[in-house]
Amino acid sequence: MHFAPELLDQLRQARHIAVFTGAGVSAESGIPTFRDAQTGLWARFRAEDLATPEAFRRDPVTVWNWYAWRRELMRNARPNPAHDALARLERLVPRVTVITQNVDGLHARAGSSDVIELHGNIWHNLCSACGKCVMDEQLSNDTPPLCPDCGGRIRPGVVWFGEALPVAAWTRASEVLETADLFFCIGTSSLVEPAASLPRYARACGRPVIQINPEATSHDEIAQYVLRGKAGEVLPMLVAAAWPQSV
Ligand code: OAD
Repeated sequence: MHFAPELLDQLRQARHIAVFTGAGVSAESGIPTFRDAQTGLWARFRAEDLATPEAFRRDPVTVWNWYAWRRELMRNARPNPAHDALARLERLVPRVTVITQNVDGLHARAGSSDVIELHGNIWHNLCSACGKCVMDEQLSNDTPPLCPDCGGRIRPGVVWFGEALPVAAWTRASEVLETADLFFCIGTSSLVEPAASLPRYARACGRPVIQINPEATSHDEIAQYVLRGKAGEVLPMLVAAAWPQSV
């Protein structure tokens, strides 16, 4: 793949890079995306039945079991070359912040140290009644487990449709856009707000946006560079092209 020399210069000169990621970054780890035709989760399941507070109130067993199934998928998944390349970037650029919509924790497992999880983390257990964060060892054998403090139902610590993003994560993400020199948008369909507005905001702040995705998305038109391909292939090549001595 050929990269524009100006892009490689901008990478080498950057003091702070922001990287916005979506499910496509974990696709090569074997974790299904949401909206890819055929393989996407929302092609096989209805989000309204599984990923809303109303669904959990209506049918907590089904929702808990669906997340337990996804946890198993993620437990067996390993970071792929895209996660690894982003973690390696930290040794080449003074500051790299990953802002992710993914709940699988793979960026941190790959070694990225500054990760903002906009949609929460599937490994966290939260009481739906009192909000307490509960450790795995404290989980009762009920489905879903019950809170050791108040007896409320435990839910996964992810953001569901109709819920607000965690305030601290959103505030930090907005701050990062003010200081970053470059903004990557990788493996996201950019359809779910408010997260999807971040690339537009970055662009409005005058940051060059670099899009990596095998498919076209609505953010191609605001991107300064569109790199068409899989993240696990494009990112390692890009890092190697910008810093040949790093490989
Ligand atoms: P989507 O499933 O909507 O989009 C995945 C994107 O990844 C698509 O644009 C694909 O073209 C792209 N893609 C697929 N394979 C790829 C690869 N190997 N490398 C790079 N890109 C690839 O997933 P998200 O945009 O992350 O929210 O979805 C956003 C949110 O919608 C999720 O966080 C989740 C979902 O419903 C909630 O559950 C609240």
